[in-house]
Amino acid sequence: MDREITMARFTIQDFLKKKKEGRKITMLTAYDYPFARIVDEAGIDGILVGDSLGMVVQGLENTLPVTMDEMIYHTKMVSRGVSNALIIGDMPFMSYQTGKADALRNAGRFLKEAGAAAVKMEGGAEIANHIRAMKKSDIPVMAHIGLTPQSIHRMGGYKVQGKTEESALRLVDEAHIVEDAGAFALLLEAIPMDLAAQITSELSIPTIGIGAGPRCDGQVLVLHDVIGLFERFIPKFIKRYANLKEDALKAITAYRDEIEQGIFPSEEQSFK
Ligand code: KIV
Repeated sequence: MDREITMARFTIQDFLKKKKEGRKITMLTAYDYPFARIVDEAGIDGILVGDSLGMVVQGLENTLPVTMDEMIYHTKMVSRGVSNALIIGDMPFMSYQTGKADALRNAGRFLKEAGAAAVKMEGGAEIANHIRAMKKSDIPVMAHIGLTPQSIHRMGGYKVQGKTEESALRLVDEAHIVEDAGAFALLLEAIPMDLAAQITSELSIPTIGIGAGPRCDGQVLVLHDVIGLFERFIPKFIKRYANLKEDALKAITAYRDEIEQGIFPSEEQSFK
């Protein structure tokens, strides 16, 4: 009998299976070892090492300056903390827009160097050839349409997409194009919920929503939004489940006070 050679790793096949069975896919971002461990332990299906790390970890204005090397660095840390979740590396700005060869090489780095099992790329029709090339090389791709933060300058800000009939039709079209090209899943960001539901019902691959309503096959959010570690702006689609900033502030203030008052360290934390 074949020996079981894999642990209970969540795979892209499990993504498809969950859609078929009508079970919701859970995803969250993570950018480092300690949080990746927690997200994994919580039983989240997929971890996206998002280029949102530029904003929530690096303190940048937007995601555009994030580099491939930085993404690899963070994905490696995440991989060390994960036993079960599917790890998806996010292709940063200019890692694939410059051509198919760059796209392939950079996507390959996520799997070869950093322990990811798939990559995510922003775009629809314009990345279809990249998706085809990656599929040929066995690199699973999640496409990302709707609000695509790397296009902030074209969009004129972080705005809900697909609100006119024409743009909604274009998004439905793009969804089919990336599915036909071979994407294993499609991320829908900041689009009207009825449009997301329509795309979800028309595609056989799972849709993962962020600001796309409840009828997507799964949901993703940025970890630091969920746990209250990012407060520069809070989009309507965020739900905060904890306020770690407040907890950390309380703890660090108490630490400072105890040093100043001679309470810490006490004998308990000292050697004889
Ligand atoms: O980079 C990221 O975290 C993302 C989210 C918007 C899902 O792409």
